[in-house]
Amino acid sequence: MALDVAAMRRNFPIFAHQPPPFHYLDNAATGQICAAAAEALTTFETAGRANVKRGVYRLADRATQAFAEARERMAAYLGATRPEEVILTSGTTFGLNLAAHVLEARVGPGDAILVSRLEHHSNIVPWQMLAERRGARIRALGVTEEGRLDLRDLEAAIDRRTRIVAVTHCSNVTGAVTDLAPLVARARAVGALVVVDGAQRVPHGPLEVASLGCDIYALSGHKMFGATGAGALWIRHDLLETLPPFLGGGEMISRVTIEESRYAPPPHRFEAGTPPIGPVLAMGAAADWLAGLDWQAILAHEKRLTARLIAGLEALPGLRLIGPRDLDDRYGVVAFEVAGVHAHDVCQLLDGFGVCTRGGHHCAQPLMDAFGTVATVRASLAPYNDADDIDALLEGLEQVIRILR
Ligand code: ALA
Repeated sequence: MALDVAAMRRNFPIFAHQPPPFHYLDNAATGQICAAAAEALTTFETAGRANVKRGVYRLADRATQAFAEARERMAAYLGATRPEEVILTSGTTFGLNLAAHVLEARVGPGDAILVSRLEHHSNIVPWQMLAERRGARIRALGVTEEGRLDLRDLEAAIDRRTRIVAVTHCSNVTGAVTDLAPLVARARAVGALVVVDGAQRVPHGPLEVASLGCDIYALSGHKMFGATGAGALWIRHDLLETLPPFLGGGEMISRVTIEESRYAPPPHRFEAGTPPIGPVLAMGAAADWLAGLDWQAILAHEKRLTARLIAGLEALPGLRLIGPRDLDDRYGVVAFEVAGVHAHDVCQLLDGFGVCTRGGHHCAQPLMDAFGTVATVRASLAPYNDADDIDALLEGLEQVIRILR
């Protein structure tokens, strides 16, 4: 069945608040909050607020139960084998930094950490910092002309000194989806761990994270139509058991004396302090709502829109697409340059037509370097977008090009 976009939009409060024309095409930066998540957040903050994992009164107990249920909902959406594998965080950046700290002892002088040129800075900088702390080296997989990860010659890229392979599941610039299987197979062969940045993958339907073969998977709730301020870090349970804590503080211990502390079992060992309770509940509600949607229809819809967008962009003069033209193994994230015009100027003028896009380096400067540019415009799609949004962008671009070139 074709997706009913009008019905889809009724699940997103933003459309009742933003007067037309409103064409929101910046979903890779943040998705709009869905009604289920907004309700979970508001209900907790106004009618059910108490701290979690502490109080014994009923209000606190209900908050603790709701928090545990949000973990279960995330575990179900991700396809984790057990809820304890899901650490609740403030977002992908926090999750990847947590990973880079708890894996520190596994990296020694002269070892290598492999990232890629397709990564968001969040999946480069924490590894550079770890490499610096441990005297290790950073290596990077390149990208193809299409803006996909270059997986040729993995034997050379991942050798016996490689301890960690950190890659994106879906590029926040080109929309390309990484074929994780060969990376995982090669990493396994040399005993390296695989960490995946899933921030751009999670808005596109439920996962089977346990069968991806990776060890760690990071994501943000706001990209999957939850509130800002929450995320999750999935860690394979047998690895999780062996890892030390990251932050020290309340609720991550089993016993503290002045001399020493013993730590709580996972996932609590990794959740020091008061967590972002409302945003976590919103993320759980979003996951639950997303899990019930018809993803075949949604993905077919997004594919049609992506095709319309790419065809329209290719028909415009002076436009350079950064990313794959084909529609397989990619999501609806499309970046491009307008010759002779800075991306920020394009985005500002598009805003005048009610079109929201992002312009800049997208926190992916090594990728910009690979394409010999400093900034691109990016349009990124969600299930509530329709052909009108695409056409508004294309018509806006036509006028921008006429004005600025
Ligand atoms: N990582 C987000 C983006 O790509 C913020 O825009």
